[in-house]
Amino acid sequence: MIGTPRVHHRTIDSTNARARELAASGAPHGTLVTADEQTAGRGRQGRSWTAPRGRALLMSLVIRELDAGQALLPLAAAVAVCEGCEAMAPVACTIKWPNDVWIERRKVAGILIEGRPAEGWAVLGIGLNVSTTEEEFPPELRGSATSLMVASGISKLDPEKALGALLPALEARLSDTWEALLERWRRRDALQGEAVRWAGGEGVAAGVGDEGSLLVDTREGRITLDAGEVHLRR
Ligand code: BTN
Repeated sequence: MIGTPRVHHRTIDSTNARARELAASGAPHGTLVTADEQTAGRGRQGRSWTAPRGRALLMSLVIRELDAGQALLPLAAAVAVCEGCEAMAPVACTIKWPNDVWIERRKVAGILIEGRPAEGWAVLGIGLNVSTTEEEFPPELRGSATSLMVASGISKLDPEKALGALLPALEARLSDTWEALLERWRRRDALQGEAVRWAGGEGVAAGVGDEGSLLVDTREGRITLDAGEVHLRR
């Protein structure tokens, strides 16, 4: 069962960093590291991830057994976070490729997967804004970030409750077939048909391919983006 064993820290540098150490020293599949607060939370593309103490679900899972391979993990995680959020609050979640979770086009959760495929493990890190208030977001993120509480108006939400909703969704999605998962992901695709830009160009997002890459129609034809960051063109 994922989520066991679990180590909880009041304060830690990064749950992902701790989970990586545990994985490297043989921690079993499903080992969970959570924290009330991180002092050096890590985001994608070398960015940092911050959240006020006790307001976000900060978790990292050691993943070892993936029938359909590691490629499934980012898709499964994003869909599961959507499902977990929707089980807790009356919200509708979409996914901004590759795996940001949005509510009304604002980011509610981020996912950072780090791993050693050669050693057979990955660490799935999830940061989910649960009860952060609008004022608690840094000024530069207001307008582009949200929390479950802000989006739903429900104040009785806490990270522990979110964990309780998220773990069963993750367990279910991790045992999906690739086809079933792609189908679930595609139904939540926030970029489909949208004008997008990235470091190397611009175009119109045309869904995800069978390997989970982003398809984009450009003036030169359809291209495939395997990694990186895309932005909506407004
Ligand atoms: C992103 O950039 O969108 C990914 C953010 C991932 C943040 C989470 S918080 C828990 C875990 N520990 C970390 O240091 N990062 C991830």
